[in-house]
Order: sequence, then structure tokens, then C-alpha cells
Amino acid sequence: MRLSAPRHTAAAAVIALAGLLGTAAPAANAAPNAGAPTARAAAALAAPDIPLANVKAHLAQFQSIAAANGGNRAHGRPGYRASIDYVKGKLDAAGYTTTIQQFTTSGAVGYNLIAEWPGGDPNQVLMAGAHLDSVTSGAGINDNGSGSAGVLETALAVSRAGLQPTKKLRFGWWGAEELGLIGSRHYVTNLPAAERAKVSGYLNFDMIGSPNPGYFVYDDNVALEKVFKDYFGGLGVPTEIETEGDGRSDHASFKNVGIAVGGLFTGAGRLKTAAQAQKWGGTSGQAFDRCYHSSCDTTTNINDTALDRNSDAIAHSIWTLGTGPVVPPGTTYENTANVTVPENGAAVTSTVTVAGRTGNAPSALSVGVDIKHTWRGDLVIDLLAPDGTAYRLKNSSANDSADNVIATYTVNASSEPANGAWKLRVQDVAANDTGFVDSWKLTF
Ligand code: TRP
Ligand code: ZN
Ligand code: CA
Repeated sequence: MRLSAPRHTAAAAVIALAGLLGTAAPAANAAPNAGAPTARAAAALAAPDIPLANVKAHLAQFQSIAAANGGNRAHGRPGYRASIDYVKGKLDAAGYTTTIQQFTTSGAVGYNLIAEWPGGDPNQVLMAGAHLDSVTSGAGINDNGSGSAGVLETALAVSRAGLQPTKKLRFGWWGAEELGLIGSRHYVTNLPAAERAKVSGYLNFDMIGSPNPGYFVYDDNVALEKVFKDYFGGLGVPTEIETEGDGRSDHASFKNVGIAVGGLFTGAGRLKTAAQAQKWGGTSGQAFDRCYHSSCDTTTNINDTALDRNSDAIAHSIWTLGTGPVVPPGTTYENTANVTVPENGAAVTSTVTVAGRTGNAPSALSVGVDIKHTWRGDLVIDLLAPDGTAYRLKNSSANDSADNVIATYTVNASSEPANGAWKLRVQDVAANDTGFVDSWKLTF
């Protein structure tokens, strides 16, 4: 039997991790796979500090807008439209291309605001967003002036830095979230499939300045989660996984159409436990936000430290993910180590590790298989996603007596995060003929 080490996966992982961690990949590793396009070995840039005063100035404007419009910024009310106009004005002046998207729900017209920054690869879009509407009972300064202002100030920092991202940066402010994620759902359902496929990740920021804060990170896509965990880890601030209702904000709209999501949250109506007060300070037995959905959700309903840290974390995520190397489509990850398939026996696996991608696997994931066998009908072959989900590539068949499985299969893997250990699982289910996995590869 010919034995060879997996030649390619390690080098590919180095490049890809370099993208995630913001370190330069050695030039020698720039072309991990023969025949694959060369990864762009740009190092991610370090984000600037986001000035808390600027974020708070946006909150003061949202408060004034509510005061001038019946006390709220709710869907269908003039305070909502005024909020959209305020954010759009800042972005237009900073050089963004902005679009207002209209929809109708509950008998009133609603608006999403989309802003794109010039430059970056239009085929790899990094999105961040926040809902801009409040409930009718108040000004909605923590929920969700905070996320709206944090994303806005990050977008303005991109402009001040004259950032030249590797990815296309697109920011969104969603309408009618409080009526059931209506605006964000309208946006994704009206995004053609080909455009959805270009979105490598969506980051959501809803309630990031709660007055009795926790530091919660969404645990959906591991690569996106890691960017935030690393940031707070660097500050020495412990985080927890967000559990106060997954699916209760606009990231759910993106997740529902198979887009990788991440985000931050400082807590709503749930009570802070004693253990949480121990690690974060604040008051145990009290809600993270006692003014959640109430008239007291004003500019005094904000914890400055939480707002500051989370705003800086937003900028960190945009800089890290938006300026790192873009892994070109068509990159191949291969394992060429031979694996014997036991005669009429147990299944065996061979692993290919994918790292540094931000989104999900493609809807047309190409799986190249090279198995030497003297009666290929004996073989059952599956692709296993990192979470263990099996995709059947080939069934056994008693009368397929030809040699070898040398084939390329196409799998719709768009619901699977790209990163992780993918396995080819092969089982020989009949007697008399034997073989081995010679090599296999995934092309993303
Ligand atoms: N989106 C909710 C609202 O505006 C708040 C909320 C509750 C939330 N649980 C969450 C936001 C979890 C993000 C994550 O009313
Ligand atoms: Zn909210
Ligand atoms: Ca081999």
C-alpha cells in the first residue's frame, strides 16, 4: 500500500486561520493546493477605538426624534421615518451608497436602510445590521438605538479610516423588528438566491447597552462567534452564550435562508443571576434591562461601559472579517493519505479540515472521490459535515462490478458552516472484493 501524508489540508488551514486571526500567511503557503487559485495573503487590519461620545450623540438624536414625534420611533410612526432619515444623512455624507427599501405591514409603510461601502470583493459580502424601530411605548434607546448607533458609528469609522476592505461591506438598519422581524425578513426574501449566496456572514446587534449588562455572544457560526469571543477575551471580559431567545432578533431572518450569523447582546427582561453579577458586576436578581419595552428606555437607560465595549467589538469584527484575506472560490482542500476499507466490514473515514471561512459551505459543494476497489458495487459512500450530518454520495449495488470509484459529486451543503472537520465515510458491505481510499477532496 502506498502511504502519503495529507499534503494539502495543513497548509490550507494556515492560510485560512491567518485570515481569521489577522496575521500574515507566509508566502510559501499562499498556494496550498495544486491547481487552486492563490489566496490573497493580506493581513487583517486593527480596528480603531470607536468613540463612546459619538455613539452617545446618536442616541441623543434618537431621543430627540422620539420626543418630537409622540414619544416613540415605532413602525408606521413619524419617529421611525425621522430615524431612517437621520442615519441615512450621516452615511450619505460619509461616502456610502444608501438605499431605502420599502415594505408594508400592519397597514403601514415601513423602511429598511441599506448602506454599501465602495470597494471590496462583491462576491464576498460581509453584512452587519440592527433594527432601528422602537416599540410604541417609548423611545427605544437601548432597544435598539444602541445597536443602531454602534453599527452607524462603525460605518462612519470605516469612512474616516478610508478603509479598503477585501470584502464588500454592507450595513443594514431594519424596520418593524418589533412586529416580528418583518423588515429583515422582507430584505432576505427579496434578495435573489445568487445574491444571498454572496453573503458570507451577517452580524446582528440588538440591545448592546443594557443598564445592568451581561456580555452575550450568539453561538451560531463558530468563526463569527470566535471573532467576538477573542475580542472580549483580550479585554479580560468573560462572555456567555446568548440564550434569551435565539430567533428573537433579525439574525433569525438571515439564518432562515442559510446565511451564517453572529452577534452581541447585553440582555433584556431576564434577571441577572448571582453568578453573573459576580463576574460582570451589576445587580443580581434584577433584569438586565428593567426598562425593556417601556417608556423609561431613554438615554439614561444605558450602561456606558457596555455600550463602549460592544461598539468597539462591532468595529473589531468588521475590521477583522472585512480586511482579512479573501479565500477565493474554487479553493480545494484535499486528503491524499490512503485508508484501507475493511473487507465486508466497518465503515472507515478520512478527514479534511476547513478553517478560516466565514460563511456556510456552498450549495454546490464539489466532492472529488478517488477510491481503488475491485468491485465498486460493494461500496456505500457518505460525506459527513463537521456536525455529523451525512450526505449520501453513493449506495451499494449488487451488480455494479466495475473497478474503482473515481467521481465528482455535488452536494447542497449550504446549511452547514464551512469550517470544521469534514469526513468521507466509506463502507464495504459485501464479500470478495477489497480496496482503499486513495484520496478525496472538497472544492469550496
Ligand atoms: N429583539 C428583542 C426585542 O427587540 C429583544 C431580544 C430578546 C433579543 N431576546 C433577544 C435580541 C436575544 C437579541 C437576542 O424585543
Ligand atoms: Zn430589539
Ligand atoms: Ca493516496
